[in-house]
Amino acid sequence: MLRFASDPARAFLEANALEQLRPRVETAHRQLLDGTGAGSEFLGWRDLLLDPNDALLEDVEATAAAIRGEADVLLSLGIGGSYLGAKAVIEALTPYFPSPSKASGGTGGDLFGAKAGRTPEILFAGHQMSGAYLRELLRHLEGKSVFVNVISKSGTTLETALAFRFVRQWMEEHFDDADRRIVVTTDPEKGALNQLHEERGYKKYKIPPDVGGRFSVLTPVGLLPIAVAGIDIRSLFYGAVEACERFATTEDNPALDYAALRYLFHEAGYNVELLASFEPQLAGIGQWWQQLFGESEGKEGKGLFPAVANYSSDLHSLGQYVQEGKRTLIETFLMVEHDGGDLPAPASDADLDGLNYLAGKTMREINRKAYEGTARAHADGGVPTMTLWLDRVASGPVGAALYFFEHAVAVGGYLLGVNPFDQPGVEAYKKEMFRLLGRP
Ligand code: PA5
Repeated sequence: MLRFASDPARAFLEANALEQLRPRVETAHRQLLDGTGAGSEFLGWRDLLLDPNDALLEDVEATAAAIRGEADVLLSLGIGGSYLGAKAVIEALTPYFPSPSKASGGTGGDLFGAKAGRTPEILFAGHQMSGAYLRELLRHLEGKSVFVNVISKSGTTLETALAFRFVRQWMEEHFDDADRRIVVTTDPEKGALNQLHEERGYKKYKIPPDVGGRFSVLTPVGLLPIAVAGIDIRSLFYGAVEACERFATTEDNPALDYAALRYLFHEAGYNVELLASFEPQLAGIGQWWQQLFGESEGKEGKGLFPAVANYSSDLHSLGQYVQEGKRTLIETFLMVEHDGGDLPAPASDADLDGLNYLAGKTMREINRKAYEGTARAHADGGVPTMTLWLDRVASGPVGAALYFFEHAVAVGGYLLGVNPFDQPGVEAYKKEMFRLLGRP
């Protein structure tokens, strides 16, 4: 399902650099597997793959099917880890241009198909504080059958809680059965959402206390919106299970190679990692990856700054910097072996645009050459590059890729000597903001 290619990056290192680091990588890997590293109380994201809860998957599928049967829109409220995973998977596995009139489930296999009617539009809110966005959103919802999934582990995150206050009021004004249309996903016991759930009888999914936000995509946090989008959550989940089993070993483990290479470049003074993809549908995975690596590693003055690029668009904006700017960048490409680009370029009699040399070549071939050319040019320009290949953009490989990055970031955090599962720095802006807002 996944293939990792790192020769161009290795060429920037001493021949035995990886080998010398090997014992430390294996120790970090063991710390993760044995739960002996920092933050080991937050390893629930692995445990849930080691002991899959099929009854929970079934429950989420049933709720999703019910929502799909009635909803024009599922409004998912959440921020950070409570939204980026669902958004990433939905963007990757649903069509670019869904047809509003018929079933348009995910490309990873539509679980419900025609049985549960058309796929609702999945919209996100509570992930920023734009009043203009909220006003337009509520206007957009007018006349539609709306369901809401409010997702917050703490239940106290201002962006999400405030948006939910507006949305709850709007739902109550528009639907007699508003309470039935609202699902909360939160801590098993703590937080304001639990109180609302008890008072209003909202359906509730629990976020395991030992799973941090950015690792929660394979809990109901991600799974419910993803299932409502018509994506086969079982193959997504079991794709991750398979990767978790595969990457439990120290032999032939690309997640460890990725973690080790990133660390070696970090130690060599590189300070930015660019995750670049040539498929726009993978842009959301980039944003999810950015949070995963930024929050897990960026502390105590350490970590590679995670930046995201969408090529070839960004070759026309960031490309100049990547090629010739400060040489502190490494670049990881996220690529797809079998994409949907088998679209041959047309021939033209007059050839006025001079593109007949491309006639008959598929967009896949052309896009692939753009990747190969970019990778070569960037390496020649002094950027160590590596590539994670997904077999296809489908639920299983996407689930495997999510786990690949989770495993790598945990090991990477241990190599850096930081706790990869906390995020103390996130509190600083909140403290200042609440002071300015006059919170009692
Ligand atoms: O990864 C994290 O822990 C954060 O990004 C949180 O998910 C985010 O701050 C939202 O928190 P909560 O789910 O408590 O509203």
